[in-house]
Amino acid sequence: MSQIQKALDKIPVPVTLVGAYNEEGHNVITVSWFTQVSQEPSLIMVSISPSSSIIPVISETKEFVVSLLPQDNEQVARICGHTRENVTDKIKEAKLTVKDGNKLNVPLIEQAIVNFECKVTNQYTAGDHNVIIANVVSADKIKEEKPMVFYDRDLVAIDNSQST
Ligand SMILES: Cc1cc2nc3c(=O)[nH]c(=O)nc-3n(C[C@H](O)[C@H](O)[C@H](O)COP(=O)(O)O)c2cc1C
Repeated sequence: MSQIQKALDKIPVPVTLVGAYNEEGHNVITVSWFTQVSQEPSLIMVSISPSSSIIPVISETKEFVVSLLPQDNEQVARICGHTRENVTDKIKEAKLTVKDGNKLNVPLIEQAIVNFECKVTNQYTAGDHNVIIANVVSADKIKEEKPMVFYDRDLVAIDNSQST
């Protein structure tokens, strides 16, 4: 692995599930390249491989949900991070429970700290990934749980607050 990639792996990022829905059903994948990019309007970005099974669904429906995972969900993150060829029904395999979305057709994940319902505004090719910018049109009830973090290619928990 290059020195630059080793350095980039030191950027702490959240662990989320990105979900999309069409006539073929509900699909989720684990995504760590996720961040807010604008406050007004509320825009976020996710960066997803063009080879992912979720890309054609998002390109077709222009909507998706980002579910922020709490710590102690390593198995969920790993199962939903597998290629769909090996795990056809990730929701069932990861023992996730779903509920209806508020604004979109994409189901929400009950276990999440919060679910962001997103409508695509722009989609770009960025190197070997697709950067998708989207408007957050709804966020459900926020759970006071600690998030899981992807750091140095490992799933880690936040230990304690640094504030005094
Ligand atoms: C912790 C973790 C973080 C991941 N982050 C991303 C990401 O940011 N973008 C991405 O395209 N794939 C990411 N992946 C890989 C995808 O989850 C994986 O390629 C996808 O689930 C494959 O499913 P598919 O065959 O349905 O496309 C990540 C996997 C794990 C385990």
